[in-house]
Amino acid sequence: MELKITCIPGDGIGPEIIKEAKKVLDKVGECYGHQMKYTDILMGGASIDVHGVPLTEEAVAAAKAADAVLMGSIGGDAANSPWYQLPPELRPEAGLLGIRKALGLFANLRPAVLYKELAGACPLKEEISAKGFDMLIMRELTGGLYFGERKTVEENGVRKAMDTLTYDENEIRRIAVKGFDIAMKRKKKVTSVDKANVLDSSRLWRSVVEEVAKDYPEVALEHMLVDNCAMQLVRDPSQFDVILTENMFGDILSDEASMVTGSIGMLASASLNDTRFGLYEPSHGSAPDIAGKDIANPIATILSAAMMLRYTFDLDREAAAVEAAVEAVLKEGFRTADIMSQGCERVSCSQMGDLLAEKIG
Ligand code: IPM
Ligand code: MG
Repeated sequence: MELKITCIPGDGIGPEIIKEAKKVLDKVGECYGHQMKYTDILMGGASIDVHGVPLTEEAVAAAKAADAVLMGSIGGDAANSPWYQLPPELRPEAGLLGIRKALGLFANLRPAVLYKELAGACPLKEEISAKGFDMLIMRELTGGLYFGERKTVEENGVRKAMDTLTYDENEIRRIAVKGFDIAMKRKKKVTSVDKANVLDSSRLWRSVVEEVAKDYPEVALEHMLVDNCAMQLVRDPSQFDVILTENMFGDILSDEASMVTGSIGMLASASLNDTRFGLYEPSHGSAPDIAGKDIANPIATILSAAMMLRYTFDLDREAAAVEAAVEAVLKEGFRTADIMSQGCERVSCSQMGDLLAEKIG
């Protein structure tokens, strides 16, 4: 089949890791008889440098014209980059928020898995990490605080800023349905995370999630307050299967979950709407400090490409081949710098791409 993929190399290490993901996808195409049709678009800082804005209408149109979008990373060093002298709505991150909204990508799936081969990198005590964990954070991505009305005013010489957190029941219902659907394919447990002891939006969240749960009698539902969840993630991450939560809580908890795996360079993500379309990107950022040095870990982007094969293109066999390649290369002891440990062989970003592509087919 023909796979129309719009790529956003972006900023920092983005272009290097996208190059390796294409290498692996091309090999998948070769071995399984698919044609990869790529279109590259600019977003974030790379778009600011050329067009003066982080996301153009043409870029959105190119993304919409594809079956899926594969993204590297966007953003730079906020302390030094000129991009951060611009007003907030013109900075790199605004491009990412803009494309999520423009494409209606309300469901963000962030798996956090402890790889057996990388268990040594887990920063938790061995008695905790020994149990292993495999969770998926289902984060609402186009509502809540990040998209609510905001303003900064001055009243009687005092500066005052305001952000609003709004959810309607339909926004909550559709992400809850996604969360329960995916739980049915996993360990059938949903932990819905909120701050219902304080926030109205959380109380509505909780009651809508309970309504949705009635359609999934096989799934065990529990509610957890977000502060407790932050603690439980380091106390016993093995208790989680699907964590279902709103935008900002999911942003924070997914960073924490990825740190707990000890290998953020390995974690993929998918942002989906109600069709098969999706935007796939690593969970990590643009790492400007190591950009251009060929030392980044391309695996998170390559595993994001595997998620793309599975969710958008329904190519389970091909996705599994990519995931198996990652496991095989790790088993053989090859490591990029971020996951390097004693007795392993250190490889560059492009070498890792070569090794993975070789394993396909
Ligand atoms: C993420 C990032 C973004 C977010 C930023 C860059 C706007 O932190 O994808 O988690 O907050 O959603
Ligand atoms: Mg984040």
